Amino acid sequence: MIPVMKNDPLLLPYKIKHLEFKNRLMISAHEPSYAEEGLPKDRYRLYHLERAKGGIALTMTAGSAVVSPDSPPAYNNLHAYKDEIVPWLKKITDECHEYGTKVMIQITHLGRRTSWNHSDWLPVLSASPIREPAHRSFPKEAEDWDIDRIIKDYGEAAQRMQAAGMDGIEIEAYGHLLDSFWSPATNKRLDKFGGNIENRTAFSLKVIDSIRKSVGKDFVVGVRMVTDEDWKIGLSKEEGIQIAKKIISTNKIDFLNIIKGHIDTDAALTKVIPLQGMASAPHLDFAGEIKQETKFPIFHAAKINDVATARHAIANGKLDMVGMTRAHIADPHIVKKIIENREDSIRPCVGATYCLDRIYEGRETLCIHNPATGREKFMPHEINSKTKTIKKVVVIGAGPAGLEAARVCAQRGHKVVVFEAASSAGGQINLICRSIKRKDMIGIIDWRLSICKKYNVKINYNCLATTENILSEKPNIIIVATGGIPNTKILEEGSDLVSSTWDIISGNVNIQDDVILYDDNGSFPGLQAAEIIANKGSRLEIISPERFFSPEVGGMNYVPYAKNFIEKGVNITISKRLKGVKKRDNRLVVSVTSDYSDKTETKEISQVVVEHGTVPLDDLYFNLKKDSINQGVVDYKSLIKGGFNEISKNPKGNYHLYRVGDAVSSRNIHAAIYDSLRICKNI
Ligand SMILES: Cc1cc2nc3c(=O)[nH]c(=O)nc-3n(C[C@H](O)[C@H](O)[C@H](O)COP(=O)(O)O)c2cc1C
Ligand code: SF4
Repeated sequence: MIPVMKNDPLLLPYKIKHLEFKNRLMISAHEPSYAEEGLPKDRYRLYHLERAKGGIALTMTAGSAVVSPDSPPAYNNLHAYKDEIVPWLKKITDECHEYGTKVMIQITHLGRRTSWNHSDWLPVLSASPIREPAHRSFPKEAEDWDIDRIIKDYGEAAQRMQAAGMDGIEIEAYGHLLDSFWSPATNKRLDKFGGNIENRTAFSLKVIDSIRKSVGKDFVVGVRMVTDEDWKIGLSKEEGIQIAKKIISTNKIDFLNIIKGHIDTDAALTKVIPLQGMASAPHLDFAGEIKQETKFPIFHAAKINDVATARHAIANGKLDMVGMTRAHIADPHIVKKIIENREDSIRPCVGATYCLDRIYEGRETLCIHNPATGREKFMPHEINSKTKTIKKVVVIGAGPAGLEAARVCAQRGHKVVVFEAASSAGGQINLICRSIKRKDMIGIIDWRLSICKKYNVKINYNCLATTENILSEKPNIIIVATGGIPNTKILEEGSDLVSSTWDIISGNVNIQDDVILYDDNGSFPGLQAAEIIANKGSRLEIISPERFFSPEVGGMNYVPYAKNFIEKGVNITISKRLKGVKKRDNRLVVSVTSDYSDKTETKEISQVVVEHGTVPLDDLYFNLKKDSINQGVVDYKSLIKGGFNEISKNPKGNYHLYRVGDAVSSRNIHAAIYDSLRICKNI
């Protein structure tokens, strides 16, 4: 019998109207971008279902399901304006209900926070024709017929959600169309929808009225609203509270979900949704103040990543429902683990915000260290299936790929030994953590180490793996997770004169006064090394051959680097390629060219740093390959379907051999961990 912590404030139920939430934890609206033709099909459903199985009280589906066709999806949003959505949503709702989870949906008109050049090619609109920097559309000013049409669209969309059996809806009002009328930054209208606060809220109140008329008095309707834009030219806290009170006084709304900040630029967005290295729960006290001020049901989410902070939010009456959204992207079973007294096994959200950055790049949400998220159909969040045949598994390397392999194999019941050449685990993550703002990344390693310890994985540190000591373990399976080393040999001449980004990050080389950093990878190591150089006070030019700077780093993750580079006066040059480096006296002369012209220029400098990803450390793999049963082969056909077909190309071989992570090729943490999970979950 599992002991239930009856006094845990997080596990107390909460009621709005007839609707009882079984605990205080919710997932706030977030568009995972899994929609297919605007519809939440299997992938979407299984994602929410997994979180329902994990015990969440409320899952707010969609992020901004769009109510009108002239609100074209910005990041693959659901189409709330289509009748076909109803059966798909109903399936999600019905299945989540079986686990006692309430299901709502956020609806919106995106206004200027989208682009016009896709879907139905309708013009984008806003309260006034002011461009949103992040999405770059030039909106038209909403006309009277637009306003009437959209009010009706909201009502009809709400009706569809009710028809899908959903428990309620949330109207989005931050950075989208409705609040573009509230904010002095975006509403310059001279008609009855501009000017004083009455006029600026008139449109939203009509929308609320239309929704309430459509769904009747019992259906739960809330507003996720900006209550202070925290912006010199934007909506003040006083005005925000005034609007909140106006909305409450209609008696047509059942809860508010509080937002502080504005989201029209990536930099502004990171203050609303903070990344790793930024303050935790920065707006919790503010949301609590709104609760005090309004005495109304208040929901809120913003980097409440750990259970202790969530508990504090409820215990101290700051919130009624607490959103742990990214935390549930990382671990869908948080509530179950709280109930089962297994809080220490929660896979931590390390705040990397890989999940959110990806949707802004037109890709789907994935978690940097939980490859099962969004792949619920064929990847397990927890390894529960035990092997029938216990095998001896030797893993070489205790970086993210190696530790994931060790964790999964050990949880499957195999006997696992890890060889690690360094004195501690972590691999490249140890380098990342040298940047204070990214130190939470160590959670990726620590979580795996704690499971490895529980499952008796033997980790041999300071142990250089050789064919001999590996084979002395008599392994059935060998997993090579040896990673890579920086690849700096990419120049026509002078590669021996350059340093790598790892040299800079690890402190292996002294930083000179004027430096060129050639970043041909466009990812984090280049930015991290650049930051270290700039922080030292050196003159720095970053040269990139790309058309856009740092293409592998998402918009939100780029923010703290951009701030630093601007403040430190770092020069960024794009579309140029480093050709070669020569020594002249005690200085270096670099030649710089480009893919676009034959023109070559030279620059004199003290130090050159090159970032071009890593070269696999794969000698061991190739040495072991000939005596392996599978000859290193992985059956991709079954792998991509979530299966695994053990290959026997050399039946006389002694072991199966696999290679994962950067030992295969230079990629990222997610790829490395996914390599290991998808192979090891079946062996
Ligand atoms: C992938 C992703 C998509 C999101 N999309 C939306 C959205 O469409 N509408 C919305 O109101 N918030 C959206 N959010 C913000 C979340 O609702 C939440 O406010 C934010 O993640 C901060 O909470 P957390 O720290 O608990 O994750 C999104 C967040 C993520 C991670
Ligand atoms: S990618 Fe990072 S921020 Fe997003 S859920 Fe995973 S750990 Fe959390």
